[in-house]
Amino acid sequence: MTVEPVGFRPGLEGVPATQSAISNIDGQRGVLSYRGYRIDELAAHSSFLETAYLLIWGELPDPERLRNFQHSVQMHRRVSFRIRDMLKCFPAGGHPMDALQASAASLGLFYSNRALDDPEYISGAVVRLLAKIPTMLAAFQLIRRGQDPIQPRDDLPYASNFLYMLTEREPDPLAARIFDACLVLHAEHTLNASTFSARVTASTLTDPYAVVASAVGTLAGPLHGGANEDVLAMLEEIGSEDRVEAYLDGAIKEKRKVMGFGHREYRVKDPRATILQQLAETLFDRFGHDQMYDVARRLESVAADRLGPKGIYPNVDFYSGLVYRKLGIPTDLFTPVFAIARAAGWLAHWKEQLGANRIYRPTQIYTGYAERQWLPPESRSSDNGSPTG
Ligand code: CMC
Repeated sequence: MTVEPVGFRPGLEGVPATQSAISNIDGQRGVLSYRGYRIDELAAHSSFLETAYLLIWGELPDPERLRNFQHSVQMHRRVSFRIRDMLKCFPAGGHPMDALQASAASLGLFYSNRALDDPEYISGAVVRLLAKIPTMLAAFQLIRRGQDPIQPRDDLPYASNFLYMLTEREPDPLAARIFDACLVLHAEHTLNASTFSARVTASTLTDPYAVVASAVGTLAGPLHGGANEDVLAMLEEIGSEDRVEAYLDGAIKEKRKVMGFGHREYRVKDPRATILQQLAETLFDRFGHDQMYDVARRLESVAADRLGPKGIYPNVDFYSGLVYRKLGIPTDLFTPVFAIARAAGWLAHWKEQLGANRIYRPTQIYTGYAERQWLPPESRSSDNGSPTG
């Protein structure tokens, strides 16, 4: 079949690259929904695992299905001693996103009997990835601090158990509930870069561990998930409310991006940023204020005048770092924590892609040379384009 190429759009802006029934963004009204349910309702009432079930299987589970799903995830939380040994070989100074990407990919070595047309294989892989990613991340965190990883606790729900494995302390119930809501908020967001990456990888019919590993690598960049780390660094650099205007004017003048602002899909404030801001305030009321929150609020208000007219408002990353910091999560784990949540969305897209698969193979507009004649080395010009001359 010959297909006429359509016009080139950098970043595929506005180009539909798939059909999907998983989530939807109304960027003008600032509404995000998963399978038709608004994100604010899910964050208020659903747990992360219930949300993951909804995303992956399309419906909210009845009590028995939910119990079974939670139980299966709980039963698969432990990881092989070989994975713990592998994590011990990673350099302690490496970024945890790299450790997470490598460990997610390594699961493919342990569960290599790929059977993409078997529903049991699909649900087994879903459960295994959701269960083991938090365990591997928490293990890397303890190992890089020179400690032995601790085993998951069977009596703790998903979010509490992760915070427990990370901090070695059973978390306060309010902190655990807020962290669980953060996971709900980050679980899915239509065809963003990492999800697109997951779908492209899935379309080759490789295994789900490679699908998730490729998505983790994509999420790591500062224009995507990595922005949440940069927001805190930016707030610290600004330092106090009275320096906000000068910082913002400088950034606009020098055409520097303000981290945690802007989104390809939203022309108003990201609904997840609104909810995260409320969660941050709840945490500060209970566990003490964070002065950087005052800087953030001032930045949001000044930016409303300067960037608002261009449709640039806070995105999900603007307040998430302040929440995570209050929960005791180290800064370089912010993006890996995002990945724990987004694994649910990636797996939903993996399953959807398999349901109507065609390998992704876009075309390009070639801008290079027409045909040239090969010359022996002594006849070539010295200006050969190589950085080493
Ligand atoms: N600060 C200042 N100006 C901005 C910003 C910003 N954060 N974002 C966009 N703009 C301006 C940009 O300079 C450009 O202006 P002009 O037309 O005058 O040249 C215009 O808005 C369009 O920008 P763009 O970079 O072409 O927009 P995009 O849709 O390609 O990029 C984005 C979206 C999220 C990559 C971008 O807004 C950005 O880099 N934001 C900062 C990084 C960030 O917070 N990333 C987290 C994204 S949300 C979570 C996630 O997806 O992981």
